[in-house]
Amino acid sequence: MSTTQSPVDPTLDLFAEIDRLREERKAVILAHYYQDPDIQDIADHLGDSLELAKRARDAKDAEVILFCGVHFMAETAKIVNPSKTVVIPDLEAGCSLAEQCPADQLRVWKERHPDHYVVMYINCSAATKAESDIICTSSNAEKIIRSVPEGRPILFGPDKNLGAFLMKKTGRAMDLWPGACMVHETFSSQKIATLKAQHPGAKFIAHPECEDHVLALADFVGSTSRLLTFVQQDEGAKYIVGTETGILHTMHKAAPHKELIPVPYEDRTAACQGCNQCPHMKLNTLEKIYLALRDLQPRIEMAEELRQRALLPLERMLAIS
Ligand code: 13P
Ligand code: SF4
Repeated sequence: MSTTQSPVDPTLDLFAEIDRLREERKAVILAHYYQDPDIQDIADHLGDSLELAKRARDAKDAEVILFCGVHFMAETAKIVNPSKTVVIPDLEAGCSLAEQCPADQLRVWKERHPDHYVVMYINCSAATKAESDIICTSSNAEKIIRSVPEGRPILFGPDKNLGAFLMKKTGRAMDLWPGACMVHETFSSQKIATLKAQHPGAKFIAHPECEDHVLALADFVGSTSRLLTFVQQDEGAKYIVGTETGILHTMHKAAPHKELIPVPYEDRTAACQGCNQCPHMKLNTLEKIYLALRDLQPRIEMAEELRQRALLPLERMLAIS
């Protein structure tokens, strides 16, 4: 399916059409916090990677899961709930982390470290999950690392920043895959320090995919859902938000009286005008959602043998989460 051309009649009321098709298809719409505001607003459930994986697993009544996020998230939905038709608005909505750790390269790394336990961040393909012992997300990673028996060496990937953060938190040494998120690694500690000086009293909250020098400035570090809960429950009034800007929409709704300041990025390339937005997440649009529900395409499909192998490390994670 083309990601650039939309054959949708421009006079259609997309909100009404999506509602009609959602009903007709018995579809549940799951959306990540990095989606555009309109998409977050039409979702049946919003969440971080772990919450959305659980929503997908528990979608008993739905016949269709429409996943508004990126490919590895929709793939995870299919792995945990294979009898459902899983569709994604744009098949090309990938993830820089997932791209950086293909299964064949992970296999070579494992062969060099045969005694290691392989913990993979959920931001990876089904084939890479299938090579792993256990999966983690940013909200349960600390718990997952602590669950690995003491003395057992660990390979952690693909995110070296999350890995370094976990090593500090748990005191556990790990071998790290050299991957990083293209969005979170553009954040500049100098600019954050400037923002903090301009907004005295503002708390800096950050996603653990940020680099170490950025996290060193943070008052709180957590997954997207944890950042949201922190802003809701904390007694402060102003927050500098160190993650993809999509989450500001739901944060504003959840805590309307609080001031939210998106983190600026370092202008590493003059051409980049919005490095704090995930270009993959932003491929999804209301038009593509409408088409996906209408045509039940593009679908996530995978060989049953691969699904079974990818399911095992996910089930180990879900049992602990
Ligand atoms: P969360 O699980 O914290 O929502 O993170 C997903 C992600 O891709 C962050 O870039
Ligand atoms: Fe992947 Fe980064 Fe986009 Fe998250 S923000 S989906 S880690 S590229």
